[in-house]
Amino acid sequence: MNVADDKSIVKEYFNSTGFDRWKRIYGDGEVNKVQLDIRNGHQQTVDKVLGWLKADGNLSELSICDAGCGVGSLSIPLAVAGAKVYASDISEKMVEEAKARTLHALNNNDNPTFMVQDLEHLSGSYDTVICLDVLIHYPQEKMDEMISHLCSLAQSRIIVSFAPKTCFLTILKKIGSFFPGPSKTTRAYMHRETDVVKVLEKNGFSVQRESMTRTSFYFSRLLEATRK
Ligand SMILES: C[S@@+](CC[C@H](N)C(=O)[O-])C[C@H]1O[C@@H](n2cnc3c(N)ncnc32)[C@H](O)[C@@H]1O
Repeated sequence: MNVADDKSIVKEYFNSTGFDRWKRIYGDGEVNKVQLDIRNGHQQTVDKVLGWLKADGNLSELSICDAGCGVGSLSIPLAVAGAKVYASDISEKMVEEAKARTLHALNNNDNPTFMVQDLEHLSGSYDTVICLDVLIHYPQEKMDEMISHLCSLAQSRIIVSFAPKTCFLTILKKIGSFFPGPSKTTRAYMHRETDVVKVLEKNGFSVQRESMTRTSFYFSRLLEATRK
């Protein structure tokens, strides 16, 4: 399968069965045990990022690009905390849902600014670029180009999360739970931390903070890197 296929499958998935599934997981309604575990794990990743940014001071000074924003799980609390957020996702349905959640949470529709966009076509310059749990959709050979592009948009900091390859076997056993039944059409790619760090370093960034969230069904390694 080539990368274009991967990308159109991911887009199609997050506009159909994947949308229904992830909207529920990233919500607060009733879900099954596996989905609840993933919801809790993902929330820990979101909280960790919010904690790092808040610990560094006033968020109202920051412009943030949330690349692959999903339903706005991170973008919305960042905007609530005062940051100017530019959020985008390849899936129209995810962006529509994110806009609806923003109206509900903030009663406004100008922050975050949402856009339907493939992150590899994003342009602009932002203090901080964040990309959470998107690399799972990128094969090894496309990871370098994708992270390098995000680095080119970041003035001072980039935060990325990915499923670490060390958990590969465990995840393989559980992968059916991520994409069950007829929607099992997207592939999940793990990445070696040393490979991700190498790309960040090559683009002039060095890792400042790191964290690992591990629940029964959710694995996410989080790195924050700043310009050297
Ligand atoms: C697992 S969700 C994570 C969403 C969000 N970052 C979060 O943590 O709540 C992955 C998201 O990445 C989006 N995505 C995948 N490939 C993308 C691409 N090339 N450009 C933009 N968004 C992409 C999907 O549509 C989906 O909304």
